[in-house]
Amino acid sequence: MTPKTAESSKTTLTDLVLPSETNPLNNLFGGELLARMDRAASISARRHSRRIVVTASVNHVAFNRAVPLGSVVTVEAKVSRAFKSSMEIFIDVWIEDRESGERTKANEAIYTFVAVDETGRPVKVPELLPETDLEKERYAAALRRKQLSLVLAGKMKPQDATELKALFE
Ligand SMILES: CC(C)(COP(=O)(O)OP(=O)(O)OC[C@H]1O[C@@H](n2cnc3c(N)ncnc32)[C@H](O)[C@@H]1OP(=O)(O)O)[C@@H](O)C(=O)NCCC(=O)NCCS
Repeated sequence: MTPKTAESSKTTLTDLVLPSETNPLNNLFGGELLARMDRAASISARRHSRRIVVTASVNHVAFNRAVPLGSVVTVEAKVSRAFKSSMEIFIDVWIEDRESGERTKANEAIYTFVAVDETGRPVKVPELLPETDLEKERYAAALRRKQLSLVLAGKMKPQDATELKALFE
């Protein structure tokens, strides 16, 4: 399988925050943002693998800034590393100032998707070729995040998480 760049999986979703999507403080519901991120990440994983993809885990979410009613929110997703059948997707969330148009980073998240066949069985995906410094940084740290996720899910023994253990040695 020919390796693919991160850029070729880049997916950008831009949408408004409507009243039905906010909490009593008039900020975007966390669950609504999770859903938007899941959609963008799913398209990104599909672009990389050209297969059916399913969300395997949400590895990290940081709601650093509230997103007010009426904001223009851009969710940008890219595959940060591909393994055998799984892909780590990095999602950056930006809000746009109405007057200046300047974008501010509001949140970020990391999801894992798995490519599957029509019966739901995992299938192989192409390797990912990181190009920019940020893509290389995210690629390098992805293996330890995968090991942490598998340990937390009870799918890997902590002693087998070699890359993760190396952080503490
Ligand atoms: C995701 C799913 C396909 C994994 O199936 P599985 O039987 O665990 O298959 P495997 O053990 O072969 O794992 C497949 C890949 O997923 C990875 N994986 C599984 N669980 C993971 C987790 N919690 N975190 C990170 N990666 C995970 C494995 O490491 C493996 O990656 P690799 O092939 O790149 O090495 C299966 O659990 C599933 O279909 N889940 C439901 C998905 C879904 O419906 N999502 C929407 C939620 S409503």
